[in-house]
Amino acid sequence: MNNTPERADLAAASGFLRKNVSLLPEVAVVLGSGLGGFADKVDVKDAVPYSDIPGFPRSTVEGHAGRYLFGYMEDVPVVVMQGRVHYYEGYSMDQVVSPIRLMGILGAGKLILTNAAGGMGEGFDVGDLMLIKDHIALFVPNPLIGPNDEFLGKRFPDMSRVYDPALLDVVRRAAEKVNVELKEGVYVQLTGPSLETPAEIRLLQKLGGSAVGMSTACEAIAARHMGMRVCGISCITNMAAGLQKEERRDSDSARGTYVEGEDEDILTHEAVQEAAMAAGERFSALLSESIREISVFRVS
Ligand code: HPA
Repeated sequence: MNNTPERADLAAASGFLRKNVSLLPEVAVVLGSGLGGFADKVDVKDAVPYSDIPGFPRSTVEGHAGRYLFGYMEDVPVVVMQGRVHYYEGYSMDQVVSPIRLMGILGAGKLILTNAAGGMGEGFDVGDLMLIKDHIALFVPNPLIGPNDEFLGKRFPDMSRVYDPALLDVVRRAAEKVNVELKEGVYVQLTGPSLETPAEIRLLQKLGGSAVGMSTACEAIAARHMGMRVCGISCITNMAAGLQKEERRDSDSARGTYVEGEDEDILTHEAVQEAAMAAGERFSALLSESIREISVFRVS
């Protein structure tokens, strides 16, 4: 099969990577905010900053290092995106998903997406890890809008099973093995960058959402378009707006009574990163075991 895309930007970037890396990946991993520590588990052969890749979008968010790592987890060739680009940074959806497409073009048939997310599912708490069973991407532009590139995939790709049932089972098994509790639910992608209002969160709960964030679903769509097998894990770094314990306790503030500290931000990016790092070890253990299971069970 011809493995050079027709699109000049993807052809140039994939040509550059083929020349500059020493292995072709089977499994691709995207590390979300504060979850970059997993990279320590990879026997890294090549680190490629996004800024070296021709035409590649650069992440501008603090805590997103912005590079591809090519290497091995045990004997599985992997590519890890340490940092991603987001729609709210001003890139088009097409640019946002191009790093995912590149990993697919290089040969990664399986993709593990991770993110930091606000929790809104029943029984969810800060620090939970959630297996993404499905997503709602209706609030962001579709990354496939524009002329369809037949090299990548077909015009109207099926989204009945974005998150691959076999890969979901792999992650469930891995969670049992490493003794990590795994919630399951529906991820909702919004554009950000402002966080949600409590009323918006109540709406998203009614729609069936369990976690909310600003990434992932668009990447999953682009990956499915190419026929990659996808799974995803959210790290619940905070309860979503209106659902924090302090707020629920503090109903006086809703009535307009002065409450000490009322003016301070309730949700901050720093707190999100801290919570993600606190979950880092469990998260890394789950991810490593999942990759091991993928290779042992030869999910292909
Ligand atoms: N909302 C949106 N995105 C997020 C959140 C949140 O509460 N936490 C981490 N990413």
